[in-house]
Amino acid sequence: MFATDTLAGRTALITGGATGIGLEIARRYAACGARVVLVSRNLERLEAAAVKLRSEGAEAIALRADVRNYEEVRAAVEATVAHFGSLDILVNNAAGNFYCPTAKLTPNGWRTVVDIDLNGTFHGCHAAYEHLKASRFGGCVLSIITMHAVTGWPGAAHAAAAKAGILALSRTLAVEWGGDGIRVNTISPGPIADTEGVRRLYEETGRADLERRRVALGRFGEKGDVSSAAVFLASGLAGFITGENLIVDGGRWLKYVAN
Ligand code: COA
Repeated sequence: MFATDTLAGRTALITGGATGIGLEIARRYAACGARVVLVSRNLERLEAAAVKLRSEGAEAIALRADVRNYEEVRAAVEATVAHFGSLDILVNNAAGNFYCPTAKLTPNGWRTVVDIDLNGTFHGCHAAYEHLKASRFGGCVLSIITMHAVTGWPGAAHAAAAKAGILALSRTLAVEWGGDGIRVNTISPGPIADTEGVRRLYEETGRADLERRRVALGRFGEKGDVSSAAVFLASGLAGFITGENLIVDGGRWLKYVAN
């Protein structure tokens, strides 16, 4: 379905791009012809990821920015355009999360996750807007959320609330920026194997087997499941899709609600 030129000519900036789902999206985007920019806090990890991607044939660079800091995000966006000449795809993937029942959560714990997930996504969208508007392919914003934004998330209210905010922001921007040719969509992964999220939320808390049983397909997803959806939504194949939330969770949320 995806050819080596599906995303040719496009530049994609991926926050949280040094590890996990973000890195896998970067790898798939590069394999489909995009130039990729990895952005996160840890420059050492970023550089290592960019070196690895380049060794696989990708055009990839690493830029340090904490998504909580608007000026740093803006600087990364401008450096991207200075280096590659455009910014066509923004992937808001950077996120923070940990298991903590709400009564035990400190206000700073709440604030920290909302700051990374929700404010970080707003910062990315706002800083990238003019460049996305100028994209000759039509700009694309993709944000990684979760269906817990809709169902709630016992033990992770901070992340559920932040992701719900991202969903509302995305649907709003889909309308506000539709006239500028910018498509704004979200992806809701379920539990994905070999990610920091699954480690923190399910493996470290001894709930991995329970979580697996909560997925209709009875297993965790693969990072490639999410990156396939991310390629599709960023490509011309999804040119009339905006304001959509694509659920890639093996039926996890339906089973949870049905039970
Ligand atoms: N349980 C309860 N509270 C926690 C916590 C945990 N496991 N981890 C952090 N917090 C609280 C801290 O206690 C602190 O609040 P306090 O000052 O009132 O004590 C607040 O959260 C901020 O923690 P800090 O470690 O200073 O923040 P940070 O900016 O260094 O790190 C996090 C941000 C907390 C989100 C960190 O876990 C992180 O960097 N995560 C990135 C990767 C990730 O989460 N991936 C999974 C995505 S699904």
